[in-house]
Amino acid sequence: MKRNKSKRNRAVIGGQWGDEGKGKIIDVLMEDADINVRPTGGANAGHTLCVNGKKYVLHLVPSGIVRPSTMNVMGNGMAIDPRSLCEELRVLSEAGIDWKGRIKMALNANLVMPEHFVIEAARESGKGAVGSTMRGMSPCYTDRTARIGLIVNDLLNPKLLAEKLERNLEEKRFILEHFGKRWVKRVMKHERLQHGRFYSNDGFFNLKEIVAAYTGYGRMLERLITDTDTYLREQLGKASMVFEGAQGFVLSLDYGSYPDVTSSDPGIEGLMKGAGLPVNAAGKVYLVLKAPAITRVGKGSFPTEMGGNRSAEWCESHKQADEELRWPSPNINSRDEMEQGVAVRRLGGEYGATTGRPRRCGWFDAPLARRAFEVNKGTLILTKLDVMSSCKTLRICTGYIYEGPRIRWGETELRKGTSISTAITREEVLAYCNPQYIEMPGWRDDISKTWTWRGLPRRCKQYVARIEELVGSEVSGLSVGPDREAMIWR
Ligand code: IMP
Repeated sequence: MKRNKSKRNRAVIGGQWGDEGKGKIIDVLMEDADINVRPTGGANAGHTLCVNGKKYVLHLVPSGIVRPSTMNVMGNGMAIDPRSLCEELRVLSEAGIDWKGRIKMALNANLVMPEHFVIEAARESGKGAVGSTMRGMSPCYTDRTARIGLIVNDLLNPKLLAEKLERNLEEKRFILEHFGKRWVKRVMKHERLQHGRFYSNDGFFNLKEIVAAYTGYGRMLERLITDTDTYLREQLGKASMVFEGAQGFVLSLDYGSYPDVTSSDPGIEGLMKGAGLPVNAAGKVYLVLKAPAITRVGKGSFPTEMGGNRSAEWCESHKQADEELRWPSPNINSRDEMEQGVAVRRLGGEYGATTGRPRRCGWFDAPLARRAFEVNKGTLILTKLDVMSSCKTLRICTGYIYEGPRIRWGETELRKGTSISTAITREEVLAYCNPQYIEMPGWRDDISKTWTWRGLPRRCKQYVARIEELVGSEVSGLSVGPDREAMIWR
């Protein structure tokens, strides 16, 4: 079904732990939009798009690039690894996508530098590990708030780049002393660090080599680097924009399940700040939720995880191939929830687009969605609705019962048995939340070719109505397959 054509701005936000299928929604919305803006995050994100049967995985470049004649902006809130970007542009060229003159990159976006990968390796080896994507996000954003960060524009100014880098490395050297030369040298052999080219026995980092390599990236990317804040402000009201959220709201540094979060804010405020625009320029907000199954990658509490800790441990230490050996044909209706989770993963292709890690799978979590809606508002889009069509019984988490030690939460006290209806997305609480479920019958029909609301099975419509009731907002769109056409607008 076709959506009404409109020229106003729209923002797409993931309402869970990322991987909600936002890439496809953005691609669909870009059909009648002019500019796609990606305001936050970096190469930690992976947006998978299927266009004419071809699959594209984008990390930094906005998804709109696959729509000819659109402009694609990488905003000031992003953390950009220039090496990764050059690689992505090469892949796009190979795929026959003409991106030249169609990408603008914020001159004031944060720059991911070699030391960020090394510091992240150090952090992720200790107690503070969150199971990050190892794309340098946290150290890069930390440097911004520590006021020692570099920006994209520095790539165009070798002298300034060297000066800023020297200042940036000072503190890092103290930290790395603790890990020792052998450890640092080994980490720096990684291909992201050009197989040891940036290592020096004297102070760990070879400044000359880093500056040479990064000014080289600057030369390759110079046509993209511009003042996107001004550009977007000038385009307000003239062009229609789609703001693209990377990651999901529950991974927000400001609102998410801290500390197991990313280092930017994929919520509406973070998005608009990262675009250099006021929040009221967002236009219509779409909150994208995966249902009936949701996913999470990396460490952290996941109350509705199918198979609980068993699943978390399995996903942390296994790859897709291990799983295929262990469960050659997992049963979606298995009484073993762990196996059911594996089946969802297999059916939904739930393996990280950036890291290839198996994504932990769980049931739709209304308290979490309510939290995302409370802050971002907007209308809902449900994705991957076709994946669990063969499931006999679907569970929906409607609330939590707190089962942990007594803890003061402001003026209230949480104790064993306390009911929680809107998720408190802090690890110290979420870790003790026991999901309360209702069960609904599955629709047992393949809906992947049903592209109208009227054509959906009654049970599927009832399921959607229940989600609307539980989250408190209407569902305006449903995605029933990876292709552009597999979309129902109401
Ligand atoms: P970072 O963003 O690499 O620092 O990782 C922090 C946490 O966010 C880890 O648990 C990651 O698995 C998770 N994360 C980051 N980006 C994504 C994403 O695009 N999808 C899902 N999880 C993500």
